[in-house]
Amino acid sequence: MSAVAGTRHVSAAPRPLTGVLFDLDGVIVDTAKLHYTAWSRLAQSLSVHFDEVLNQSLKGVDRLGSLELLLGPHSRRFTLAEKQKMADLKNHWYVESLCDLGTDDILPGALDALEQVRQAGLKTALVSASRNATTVLDRLGVAERFDAVVDPSGVARGKPAPDIFIAAAQELEAAPDRCLGIEDAAAGVAGLKVAGMAVIGVGDPLVLHEADWVLPDLTHFRLSAYRSIT
Ligand code: G6P
Ligand code: MG
Repeated sequence: MSAVAGTRHVSAAPRPLTGVLFDLDGVIVDTAKLHYTAWSRLAQSLSVHFDEVLNQSLKGVDRLGSLELLLGPHSRRFTLAEKQKMADLKNHWYVESLCDLGTDDILPGALDALEQVRQAGLKTALVSASRNATTVLDRLGVAERFDAVVDPSGVARGKPAPDIFIAAAQELEAAPDRCLGIEDAAAGVAGLKVAGMAVIGVGDPLVLHEADWVLPDLTHFRLSAYRSIT
């Protein structure tokens, strides 16, 4: 179904929602700039070109997958062991930078959206491609607002595979078709759709065209508009 900001075509009897799955990076918190700084530092050390446009395509992509995108045609110059070392180094710099992360980095509307969901008695899950998700949640002091936190460590395939979203629905004891997912990355939107969930994209409607709704940011989130899904 094509996405038009704030609208969705209802074609069958509505099903009530049980759970809402929130992405972390780009939905709850603005960590993209920190990932960007760490990847830029690595690219510079390798004399590989890297810019903000390429950084956009790393959204929702796991660490080694992101490294492959950064290396592009240079990838064949390095062994897997060398790539693992590069990914570890980038992560070391990224984790160092998390010391500066705080509640000011929570994205506008995110806490209110979580509150709307919890006040309505629905379950909440945090579903992230980041293996640093728990550290980030702790820095922000919002971990207790989620009934489940799912990161890639427990699933076989990362986004855009549906595995991580299916795992989150299981943790919430919710049927996938009673779940709504919120994502800023095309890879995440694609995975949620394959999982059979309704999807709100946060960002550019052209990039997130597979989503059922697209919002510029979570200040536009109104749970009542999505309470029944088809
Ligand atoms: C999120 C971010 C990506 C990042 C990925 C893995 O999905 O949007 O940019 O590459 O997590 O993060 P990690 O902290 O495990 O390296
Ligand atoms: Mg994201």
